[in-house]
Amino acid sequence: MSINSTSSKNLNSLENILIIGNGGRENSLAWAIQKNELVKKVYLIPGNAGSERINKCKRIKIDINNKNELVEKLNFFNINLVVIGPEIPLANGLADFLREKDFKVFGPGKDGAKLEYSKSWAKEFMQNAKIPTANFWKVNSLEEAKKIIQSSSFPLVVKADGLASGKGVFIPDSKDECLSAAESIFNGKFGQAGNVVVLEEKIQGPEVSVFALCDGEKYVLLPTAQDHKRLKENDKGPNTGGMGAYSPAPLLTEDYLDKIIKEIIKPTIVELNKKNIDYKGVIYFGLMITESGPKVIEYNCRFGDPECQTIMPLMDKNFVFLLEKCSMGNLTGDEKIDTFDKVSGCVIATSKGYPQEYKTGFPIKIGKVDSDACQIFDSGTSLSKNGELLTDGGRVLSIVCQDKDFDMVFEKAYKNLKEINFDGIYYRSDIGHQVRKNFIKEN
Ligand code: AMP
Ligand code: GLY
Repeated sequence: MSINSTSSKNLNSLENILIIGNGGRENSLAWAIQKNELVKKVYLIPGNAGSERINKCKRIKIDINNKNELVEKLNFFNINLVVIGPEIPLANGLADFLREKDFKVFGPGKDGAKLEYSKSWAKEFMQNAKIPTANFWKVNSLEEAKKIIQSSSFPLVVKADGLASGKGVFIPDSKDECLSAAESIFNGKFGQAGNVVVLEEKIQGPEVSVFALCDGEKYVLLPTAQDHKRLKENDKGPNTGGMGAYSPAPLLTEDYLDKIIKEIIKPTIVELNKKNIDYKGVIYFGLMITESGPKVIEYNCRFGDPECQTIMPLMDKNFVFLLEKCSMGNLTGDEKIDTFDKVSGCVIATSKGYPQEYKTGFPIKIGKVDSDACQIFDSGTSLSKNGELLTDGGRVLSIVCQDKDFDMVFEKAYKNLKEINFDGIYYRSDIGHQVRKNFIKEN
């Protein structure tokens, strides 16, 4: 990554970094940030049991909703840069609050986070900016939804407008299923997040994730990635938060990425500016590559999980400067990301039962994992009173490897994953099947 050092102001001011969030995404951000020698300490609120295994990292256990205590702690620890991981605090305006208190913050304000927390707003935003996306209807009542569903000549997708922890999207197989999905949302399945429903034309094609680090006007693209949303091999089973990923996505050639920049990324930033939204953070473009070109499925105002765990090990020690520049509105837009000519792959290990009901509290045994070749980023773990590592979430941890090609990456990932065990461990054996030349489909 070539970064003009003169344009990074007051480098001494990167000693203490704070990351807000408790998942694998935040641990991988901490891991990438601590690589820089100017960074002395990375604090996580609240982090998880894996956070303190990362060099220079320390957890702070406070409630971020207690604003006075938060500011007190940030001042006490002399925090120079705050990175906000998850969408909920962003949607609640935490970045605005901390900026008002003169902290440098990577993460959009409440106005920018609306790209994620209101699907209907995001669809109208795209419509205004002529950004390619599936046709849609914003509906305020079940009656309205019924009319559209019954008269539609093509399959529809049903979405709760607001934040629903990734569970608010239904892909029905029939009009009846479509109606019952709309009914369940209007009946309060997601509380206020379902006061409005978005009906969308169902489109088809592979999905890719593109991340733009944005300083309000300029942006830098991270390596692209492909997530695996379905629980089971061959992309079957229910949707999950993500079962694994690889980066970069070879599907996006340089030419195709140029098309995405021209049709989607630049118009998004222009439209944000038109709306006077000073977006300082990452814009996550969830795209579908359809026969008629790339279309935006969704925007998120945060890094993807597990895409972030996959991409972070490809960053060099200057990554933290990019975050700082975004927070200060200082990107040149010419910053180049050097991925060391490597590719990266990530496999998530989950608790039995995820994404439905699952139990937690099972001891995690980690054997001889080759730590030069792989990173382990905890997603949902805790420590027992005796300091034993326990499962504490649906997605428990990820193993991430880098190498020259995806065959080598996933060979290492699966070999090392065998060294990790807990009661009910489950993972997909075919992550990266799209890009593994030696991959043999079992079914
Ligand atoms: P979202 O939470 O909006 O990303 O939706 C979750 C998943 O639902 C996406 O990753 C897609 O696989 C699928 N999806 C969402 N919208 C559509 C659509 N309009 N057409 C087809 N699939 C969709
Ligand atoms: N990987 C999907 C997401 O973070 O929403």
